[in-house]
Amino acid sequence: MNNNQETTLSTNHLLDIRTLPVNDITILLDTAKSFKEILQRPNKKVPALRDITIANLFFENSTRTRISFELAEKRLSADTIHFSATGSSVKKGESLLDTVNNILAMKVDMIVIRHEQNGAPHFLSQYIPVPIINAGDGTHEHPTQALLDAFSLLEKFGYLKGLKIAIIGDILHSRVARSNIHLLKKMGAEITVCGPPTLIPNHIQELGVQVHYNLIETLQWCDAANFLRIQLERQNIKYVPTLREYAYLYGLDTTKFKSLNKKIVILHPGPINRGIELSSDIADSEHAIILDQVENGVAIRMAVLYLLGQKNKIPVRA
Ligand code: CP
Repeated sequence: MNNNQETTLSTNHLLDIRTLPVNDITILLDTAKSFKEILQRPNKKVPALRDITIANLFFENSTRTRISFELAEKRLSADTIHFSATGSSVKKGESLLDTVNNILAMKVDMIVIRHEQNGAPHFLSQYIPVPIINAGDGTHEHPTQALLDAFSLLEKFGYLKGLKIAIIGDILHSRVARSNIHLLKKMGAEITVCGPPTLIPNHIQELGVQVHYNLIETLQWCDAANFLRIQLERQNIKYVPTLREYAYLYGLDTTKFKSLNKKIVILHPGPINRGIELSSDIADSEHAIILDQVENGVAIRMAVLYLLGQKNKIPVRA
């Protein structure tokens, strides 16, 4: 790693992909490649963020993102603290800003935040003097997921420009879909979103994607398909009559996969609702790169933390 212009991010925070320049995306993906190589070694730890303290604030549930950030921080030799809203003074009415300011008073250098409110990381970035990393905000964006998905596609195909990607399922409530669309469009991929009409946002074509409602035709078209979970926890009304009907129309199983007469790559950000969007035999098949996505998440998050530390003149070690 070096400090020349081409390897320095233009952004001080990672709040979204929509406003992230292509050059920053390229730097992040390239740097993650170096970190992935380091992660293959017996000694996976580097001193890059030694003496740096990172707070992981999770106001919403997480398995992959929380553990992946924690591992990335440990691999970079940072000190970490973890906060979850459950069991905290948020339950006594303390505001987000007061919570974060109190944590910063204890000399924290970077904040990773997952929050159920759209825009919470952006709000914090206007008041907080340290780098903020969005680990998923409401239905808005999940930038590190999109980066690790792109990294995994690059590993599989070697290119993104012209790649045909289908994003399937509950697009309406999906921050993963939004971040993926922004990132893959910036990198020159073609995107079709597919799902029940009730779960496709109005005017999504304005983001430069095609909309299709037929799963098999969409899969016939694509090189890779990213299946999303129906987010029942974000739904106050019923968007599909039954999950059984959803699985019949939009879930992928071996019978449908074989009927394609072609090989496509299957992605899923997790957690999977097995038997709904993917059958177990598909999720666990050689065509799925779901666990590669999880593995790559650590390298991506190392790249994000390292480069934001460097950009914000936090004394990172090369
Ligand atoms: N993909 C993802 O964000 O998973 P978690 O909710 O478990 O972090």
